[in-house]
Amino acid sequence: QDHLITATQLSRPDIEAMLDRAREIDESREAFEQRYSGSVLALCFFEPSTRTKMSFETAAKRLGAETIDMGSVESSSVKKGESLADTVRVIEGYADALVLRHPSEGSAKMASEFVDVPVINAGDGAGQHPSQTLLDLHTIRERHGLDDLTIGIMGDLKYGRTVHSLASALTNFDANQHFISPESLRLPRSVRFDLHEAGAQVREHTDLEAILPELDVLYVTRIQRERFPDENEYREIAGEYRIDADTLSAAREDLTVMHPLPRVDEIAADVDETDHARYFEQAHNGVPVRMALLDMLLGGGSE
Ligand code: CP
Repeated sequence: QDHLITATQLSRPDIEAMLDRAREIDESREAFEQRYSGSVLALCFFEPSTRTKMSFETAAKRLGAETIDMGSVESSSVKKGESLADTVRVIEGYADALVLRHPSEGSAKMASEFVDVPVINAGDGAGQHPSQTLLDLHTIRERHGLDDLTIGIMGDLKYGRTVHSLASALTNFDANQHFISPESLRLPRSVRFDLHEAGAQVREHTDLEAILPELDVLYVTRIQRERFPDENEYREIAGEYRIDADTLSAAREDLTVMHPLPRVDEIAADVDETDHARYFEQAHNGVPVRMALLDMLLGGGSE
């Protein structure tokens, strides 16, 4: 059974096939409507979500599939102590694929070992968020292409699962990656190891200023308050690595600013009015990209 658990499993041909399909869907959505009439997608979110959950739901509906929603932890039998393994074993009997978000790293991989339907990791703690990466790559590809790209990834690189997945997926392309963060929020050792194994250079900075004029893309992330074991540690860092329109006066004219969202205060509202801001377009790209992903996993894209 095919699952999408981590971005490290995605090869360049996989990514290109998926993004080509997303582009095709963008150009002629009618051709894909009702393709999965009768299929059911289960949404199992043990952590909050706006974009991932709603865009998977929209993607499924546009393909003609139904969705079922486990609901919140509070309203489901998880509250009574049901294990993740039992939960997914029950839900696989109701659905053709599962989208799972869970606070524990490794949870999606574990769940995939208990079921015979595709599992899509929609975020496992501070681990991975590979479907976000596909929509990030789609957004970048449509603006700049994925080769000969210089990208700065800034903010919470330690706990940011979107960063971990994006950094690994970019090793399939000729991309120069620069990582900008405070010392305490550098990329985890495991991600640095994967990048090293893939032959990527890890260039780390504590300051955006010097590298900003070289960037095609600046990918900003939120400091993940909910992942800090110590709230004081979060407070010391919160508010650093914030950009505004003034910051971007040193950037290239065609710099693309991205953010997986939600943002707190790391991108000032005045950036929204500039041509650099692409984070809402990025979020909207979740629909065609997740339609392409579902198409591949549910069988219509057997290549
Ligand atoms: N980007 C992202 O995963 O957003 P949500 O947490 O709203 O799903």
